[in-house]
Amino acid sequence: MLVSGSEILSKANIENYGVGAFNFVNYEMLSTIFEAADKKSSPIIVQASEGAIKYMGIDMAVGMVKILANRYPHIPVALHLDHGTSFESCIKAIRAGFTSVMIDASHHPFAENLHETKRVVEVAHNAGVSVEAELGRLMGIEDNISVDEKDACLVNPKEAEEFVRESNVDFLAPAIGTSHGAFKFKGEPKLDFERLIEVKKLTKIPLVLHGASAIPDNVREAFLNTGGDLKGSKGVPFDFLKEAVRGGINKINTDTDLRIAFMSQVRKVANENASEFDLRKFFTPAKDFMKEVIAERMEILGSAGKI
Ligand code: G3H
Ligand code: 13P
Ligand code: ZN
Repeated sequence: MLVSGSEILSKANIENYGVGAFNFVNYEMLSTIFEAADKKSSPIIVQASEGAIKYMGIDMAVGMVKILANRYPHIPVALHLDHGTSFESCIKAIRAGFTSVMIDASHHPFAENLHETKRVVEVAHNAGVSVEAELGRLMGIEDNISVDEKDACLVNPKEAEEFVRESNVDFLAPAIGTSHGAFKFKGEPKLDFERLIEVKKLTKIPLVLHGASAIPDNVREAFLNTGGDLKGSKGVPFDFLKEAVRGGINKINTDTDLRIAFMSQVRKVANENASEFDLRKFFTPAKDFMKEVIAERMEILGSAGKI
């Protein structure tokens, strides 16, 4: 059933587990996320970036989610706009049927971020739609980073408290050292969990971890085995994901792992059978492997069995 983001994340916040927010760009990714949720009895958030919406068409993105939500009525699902870059983009998504939106004005100064977020919250809440905002910059932190440098790019807990109070936003993504894509850390993985705990203590709302792909060994290997190149890739280790959930993260944004898992199998079929051109022969194993990755993630985050 299609529900608001808050409906899913308030429960996760109270019961202290994490829900995967999985990105999709087509039917294959989207249907696989639902199939994994069905297998694991897990709530899900499915999210589309502005780029993904441009690729699919907003009517198609919403239409596919509605059809799958009807096909699996027992699965609570929220449809979320990932990294909405403007008020207008959020309004478009709300009008089209999204049940949750992110207004990402984190690159602006605090006051402007707050102003933009407030504008979106006002409209969204009237429509029963939840809102996510972000504070700080997404970037990996190195061992030798100074306290001043850290403070300059990561979330400031006091600011987070003020931001949540003033904006009435539903979920907050605090920058604690993750980044998007397959190359998150140069040295040993490192996240600022103390900062996370402080933000949770002061805000108490569901928190969001962007850049949460783990690039587990089996996924990396599957891609490398087909001649793929992921030199220097590093994700957020499973233990860190668990610690993040313990520290108050409830929405775990995951895209890169799904892309690598899916494409590893497309590459495999292409490598093993040069004369194959039936799309289904590529996409069936790609979906199967992606489903395994998502199902395992639901266990790690604690959302498995929560419906
Ligand atoms: O946060 C980024 C997501 O992985 C979406 O990426 O803009 O390439 O669709 P995209
Ligand atoms: P990954 O690149 O780690 O999958 O992060 C995705 C994300 O944060 C989408 O908003
Ligand atoms: Zn993100």
